[in-house]
Amino acid sequence: MKKLILLSLSVLGLYARELVGKVPLASVDMAPHHGGDLLVSSQMITNILHYQRFGDMFTYLQAHYFRIIFLGILIGVPLVFLLHYLIIGAKIFSHSGKKVYVYSIFKRVIHWIAALAFVVLIPTGLMIVFGKYLGGGEIITDARYLHGIFTIVFIVAVFPMLVFWLKDMLPSFDDIKWTFILGGYLSKKVKEIPAGKFNAGQKAWFWIATLGGIVMIATGGAMYFQNFNFGIASSLGMSQIDLLRLSAIIHNILGFAVLALFITHLYMSLFAVKGSLDSMISGNKGEDELKYLHSSFYKKLKKEGEL
Ligand code: HEM
Repeated sequence: MKKLILLSLSVLGLYARELVGKVPLASVDMAPHHGGDLLVSSQMITNILHYQRFGDMFTYLQAHYFRIIFLGILIGVPLVFLLHYLIIGAKIFSHSGKKVYVYSIFKRVIHWIAALAFVVLIPTGLMIVFGKYLGGGEIITDARYLHGIFTIVFIVAVFPMLVFWLKDMLPSFDDIKWTFILGGYLSKKVKEIPAGKFNAGQKAWFWIATLGGIVMIATGGAMYFQNFNFGIASSLGMSQIDLLRLSAIIHNILGFAVLALFITHLYMSLFAVKGSLDSMISGNKGEDELKYLHSSFYKKLKKEGEL
């Protein structure tokens, strides 16, 4: 199975490379000219010594922390949810009552485009992080191209997602109450949980995936097209290599949050709340699920005579 996945990624990667062409990582004529310094030149090694800002921090984090934290999240988060599933179990609702239309077709399509993007972005991102241990070479280069291409797929989804879901994702008092009781997920009892159309956990995921996602796109873009010169570095009072190191640090740290919350999102929507997947397919949620897990939203619908 593992071999099959690696093979498919490699084949897709070959096509990807044909599509985007090779992005030069280093060439003298593409070197940025801010303050006369060259990021990439025949004196690259000696040049690099002049750029110490973020240098120590980046190499230290890269050498000691990034990989181990990613590995910890990759193993630790699913393990916690496995224990949760075994000890507390899923929330089960009858779904036999009325259905409430909560996700329009537009929102569902946008959502599944984002999902498709992440299903490729996350494994390929991890392949880049653990490249050294996967043997490096072609397959990691291909993962890098796929990571770039599926970033474009994510760009298509992230802006409409941010705009069209924003109103429902703004913070509310319910979020504080929800956070204190961790959404009731530590108890087997089914009781009314304070939450609007979306609860605090769903909102956290939304903001990390959209605003965080946009920062990931910007920092990832900076690393992908290393030799660009839009005057960003100089306007921030730093060199191009400082900007790349800072981008790498931010991209990795946000990557921790995205990975942890993506796994959480999968667990919540596929396992923790039975039947949840149906709402993102048909657009409908069962009345009983809303009554308990989104009680404020349910009361509002009742008051407005929508139920
Ligand atoms: C294969 C990957 C994914 C699956 C299976 C999945 C599944 C689902 C499901 C079933 C829901 C409905 C939850 C409910 O209302 O009960 C949902 C909601 C949502 N999804 Fe996803 N999703 C995936 C990826 C993503 C990605 C990549 C993003 C963002 C970039 C995202 C953002 C959201 C948001 C913001 C919501 C509404 C709030 C929430 O339920 O968390 N999803 N997803």
